[in-house]
Amino acid sequence: MAILLNNDGFWHDQWLTAIHKYLPGRDVHEYPRISDPAAIEYALVWKHPAGDLETYPNLKAVFSLGSGVDYIDAYSTLPKAPIFRLIDPAMAEDMALYTLYWTIHFQRLFKVYRSQQKESHWHRYPTPLAPDFHIGLLGMGAIGSHIAKVLAKNGFEVSGWSRSPKSFEGVNCVHGEEGLSAILPELDVLVCCLPLNTATRWFINADLLGQLKKGAGLINVSRGAVIDEAALLAELDKGRLAGAALDVFETEPLPKSSRFWNHPLVNVTPHMSGATNPDTAVQIIARDIARFERGGMPEFIYQREVTAA
Ligand code: GLV
Repeated sequence: MAILLNNDGFWHDQWLTAIHKYLPGRDVHEYPRISDPAAIEYALVWKHPAGDLETYPNLKAVFSLGSGVDYIDAYSTLPKAPIFRLIDPAMAEDMALYTLYWTIHFQRLFKVYRSQQKESHWHRYPTPLAPDFHIGLLGMGAIGSHIAKVLAKNGFEVSGWSRSPKSFEGVNCVHGEEGLSAILPELDVLVCCLPLNTATRWFINADLLGQLKKGAGLINVSRGAVIDEAALLAELDKGRLAGAALDVFETEPLPKSSRFWNHPLVNVTPHMSGATNPDTAVQIIARDIARFERGGMPEFIYQREVTAA
């Protein structure tokens, strides 16, 4: 009756406190110090090494400590136990607020006013009202659809693209290649919420960026490798885009040599738009384990499939 914990080695104290609070009475083995592999029933993991999950003969379920499971998607074989994604409403809300912040940054020209301030220059520009400012989300999964709803509630015109048809109140939902080509030239801001998998690697490439109108902004809260970073830099250098707010990068931490650090049109944040909160996360995992032990299935089971959204 034991739990394996591996949050890639980070903040284990906070995770242990939450596990002891919401899953009392369970032994916890912190990876890689597993004294009895046969005792492990549940694995709570993040960026866990490929192959290791197959070494626990009594493993019943794997709970990812993040919503993205690209590190699991990269395994050549998956463990036999079911894998559950963490979809934490607190994290989705954090990501929505992060996106709202940068959306308003682009809508209200805050970068322009910041540079005007450096010159003590007073000049006001007309800016569109929220309903005339069109935000497009790529990826309408649990996180993308929540971000879309929050933007729509704040009055923005919102379109959401997914590979297959979906529908959300207040959001213009489009799908497939045609749906994408229809919205791209109309957008004021493009938000990337796509999971990273073989179908989405470098999905946002030179061709897609070229379909955005001049002056559009880009926000990435999913995974860096969904964007062809060289193509994005080329587009920014041409001055076609208003800017990019990037929370995720193909290589993290972002190397000191990256041009993104000093690019005048780029805002870099260190993958913090929706950090997992151990307290809220373990409450969700404890509820899911209870459901699983009653013979039910938690909602966000991960299935290996090549879908973009
Ligand atoms: C963080 O990036 C996550 O996938 O939860």
